[in-house]
Amino acid sequence: MKALILAGGKGTRLKPLTNTIAKQLLPVANKPILFYVLDQIKEAGITDVGIIISPETSPHIREAVRNGSRWDVQITYILQPEPLGLAHAVKTAQGFLDDSPFLMFLGDNLIQGGIAQFVERFNRDSPDALILLKPVKETHLFGIADLDEAGKVCHIEEKPEHPKSNLAVIGVYLFSPAVHEAIEHIKPSWRGELEITDTIQRLIDTGKNVQSYILDGWWLDTGKKDDLLEANRVVLDDFLERDIKGDIDVASQIVGRVEVRQGAKIKSSIIRGPVSIAEDCRIRNSFIGPFTSVGANTVVENSSIEHTVILENSRISKIERLADSVIGKSTEVLKQEQGFNALRLFLGDDAKVEL
Ligand code: G1P
Repeated sequence: MKALILAGGKGTRLKPLTNTIAKQLLPVANKPILFYVLDQIKEAGITDVGIIISPETSPHIREAVRNGSRWDVQITYILQPEPLGLAHAVKTAQGFLDDSPFLMFLGDNLIQGGIAQFVERFNRDSPDALILLKPVKETHLFGIADLDEAGKVCHIEEKPEHPKSNLAVIGVYLFSPAVHEAIEHIKPSWRGELEITDTIQRLIDTGKNVQSYILDGWWLDTGKKDDLLEANRVVLDDFLERDIKGDIDVASQIVGRVEVRQGAKIKSSIIRGPVSIAEDCRIRNSFIGPFTSVGANTVVENSSIEHTVILENSRISKIERLADSVIGKSTEVLKQEQGFNALRLFLGDDAKVEL
């Protein structure tokens, strides 16, 4: 069994953050989403891993994952020159996949409890495809599968206008090599992409064995700002353990599940978990409340923050209440105490400020 991780694309829905970082590397609880994907693949016992990259994501993904030694897996990078769809990505990876069955994992998706049980089930039953499903409200944003009375997948459609069910196709798939033939027969969709959903429909139409499993645990698709905040909340809630490695002065209070990494210094502040504070942060005279992740080397002073994700090298100063926010790298949010009420902004492209 091989694994194919999709870490290409342009990250349009997460601009401006994705102007300087691949969306698969955005941090959830101060760890890149892609690293959780690699953890889960390794945990399932797969060590031969191909990563689809795009010209935009290539340098960032290569620098972060390198040769995979951190996970003790072997990495092959495969360049998809244009984002022409998930099935196109599989086609691009055909040389790497050869005639092996494989797991395909979208690099911005996370599922609770890992994938080992699905890999085991696939190996045991040897279907041509095993897909994971989860009920959703926003059916127009996903591939949607319909099951017959016996629970078999009978219809699958990409972002349907008139959905036949509310079961979204999650970004974790298992395929036999029969998928390659199916891809040869599909045409680009209305959005100009070779869709993996059309490929699975083709497998169904040609009598292949397509199995599905409805996921009980959470599934996160970190595609846009609110999803990233939600992913941060869920992962902090589920995975974070109290671990204090930085320096805390006697005037500070650390309550509950809080991670303070090496080199971070907390002075005269209250941190109420679940909260992750990365390496070398400086927190002074501040309150950091639940579901917040502060990226490495960030300074927070005289501020109160909750339910927020801050990336590295940023500075938050004299902000009375910062909530529900995502703050990019090397960003400053400062309140000047001067006698006029003007807002003085220096914002990058695609930024959004709610006052
Ligand atoms: C892709 C797939 C879709 C699936 C979704 C899961 O959508 O095309 O079928 O439900 O991932 O995240 P996209 O991110 O391309 O809109």
